[in-house]
Amino acid sequence: MSGKSFLIKTFGCQMNDRDSEIMAQLLGEVGYVETSVTDQADLIILNTCSIRAKAEQKVMSLLGVLRKHKKKKPGLKICVAGCVAQQEGDRIIKKMPHVDLVVGTQNIYQLTDLLKDHEANSVATSLVADYVIPAFIPDFTKGKENKVLPVLFRKFLTIMQGCNNYCSYCVVPHTRGREVSRKVSHIIEEAHALVEAGIKEITLLGQNVNSYGQTNSVSDIKDKVTFAGLLREVAAIPGLKRLRFTTSNPKDLSDELMCCFAEVENLSPHFHLPVQSGSNKVLSAMHRKYTRELYLEKINTLRSYCPEIAITTDVIVGFPGENAEDFEETMSLLEEVHFHGSYSFKYSDRPGTRSADFSDKIDEKTKSERLQRFQSRQDEISLEQNKSYVDKVFPVMIEKNEGDSKVGRTGTNHLVHFADLDNSINPGDIVQARIVHAGQHSLQGKLHITNKDEI
Ligand code: SAH
Ligand code: SF4
Ligand code: F3S
Repeated sequence: MSGKSFLIKTFGCQMNDRDSEIMAQLLGEVGYVETSVTDQADLIILNTCSIRAKAEQKVMSLLGVLRKHKKKKPGLKICVAGCVAQQEGDRIIKKMPHVDLVVGTQNIYQLTDLLKDHEANSVATSLVADYVIPAFIPDFTKGKENKVLPVLFRKFLTIMQGCNNYCSYCVVPHTRGREVSRKVSHIIEEAHALVEAGIKEITLLGQNVNSYGQTNSVSDIKDKVTFAGLLREVAAIPGLKRLRFTTSNPKDLSDELMCCFAEVENLSPHFHLPVQSGSNKVLSAMHRKYTRELYLEKINTLRSYCPEIAITTDVIVGFPGENAEDFEETMSLLEEVHFHGSYSFKYSDRPGTRSADFSDKIDEKTKSERLQRFQSRQDEISLEQNKSYVDKVFPVMIEKNEGDSKVGRTGTNHLVHFADLDNSINPGDIVQARIVHAGQHSLQGKLHITNKDEI
């Protein structure tokens, strides 16, 4: 296989980002080299997302473009991986015979074997409840030339796969399967390997990290290990400057985990806690299993443990049956919590989900109006909160150079631009920065004191 080149285009969440890295490493191990030029690629992988209809349509239209491309380059192999691959399986090949390989979410580790044995139109989308995520140590030496592995100080670490929650709108339990946790020993080994390779910040990934180790019938976890316990173990790895995690379902958010924000020094003060709606009626129809009141209680507890914590969320507007009053409850929740930021979406029917069959669907115009109202108020609140940071000092981890300036990130996950940093400060270094200006989406900072070792 050596001498061939590949290109991976990744859609969707951080899980897919991490899976793309794994595929890139596997391809690097058998001699493939990454290219960013479509015309040069012998293998193109689309690592896809199916969370909303739009995400899926994007993939389908790109596959249409690739059909023409393959006509000009018949040797080109096209592979569809990720959540659309899992959801559609061989229907992809039936609709699009120019696709060579469909690789499901539990099959990525077989990628290179599948390519080797590949005849034509292969589909590997087995999804089993007792899936064991293999131990996989990132090897930056093999993947060095590969652009999928570029940032060498900030990495994702997948701790679990799948979800058992079956929120009524969500395709993830169908595309990622039943929830399985990775072994603690594999996670710790991978985290050590990352830190030894110079990684300064790790983000632990799972669809609902709070239930880590709880529902797993297949792992070798002997004693019950909670997510908070795992987090403390990873945080204790010497040299790890920052630790983050995503995502949490509020219903499973334990006091033990919230307490970590007071006690674990290198845990970044940012919590992404998707609320989805402020209306108890809608939350119940979504099958989220918490109430607005419980959500607010968790926010208060989090803020009591860590007053400076930044809280962000996800919101769906126009869920079936959401009336004007329900939507106002989402708006009032936004006022009450004052989220630092949020991702908000128009409800979208997904195949196999329960809400796809609900009546009382909301029309597109109403959904767009609600989204617009939510987003503009969120923008005002974000700006207001960003402005409250002016003249305060924060530790900022430098991420990259942008022209003559440098960009970094606070523990609260705010981007900070610097015009005055000299070249002795490198990506991965933490500097103390005074915020001098606040915009809608980013802050401007000036160096306060330079102390690279400080958190
Ligand atoms: N595991 C996370 C969510 C992962 S999906 C959690 O439980 O919170 C990311 C976000 O996509 C969700 O939080 C939700 O806001 C949005 N989303 C999921 N399904 C959707 C759908 N059918 N329509 C619109 N937005 C959706
Ligand atoms: Fe989807 Fe709900 Fe699972 Fe999140 S918790 S992945 S929204 S089913
Ligand atoms: Fe999308 Fe699958 Fe992630 S549906 S959001 S890529 S788990």
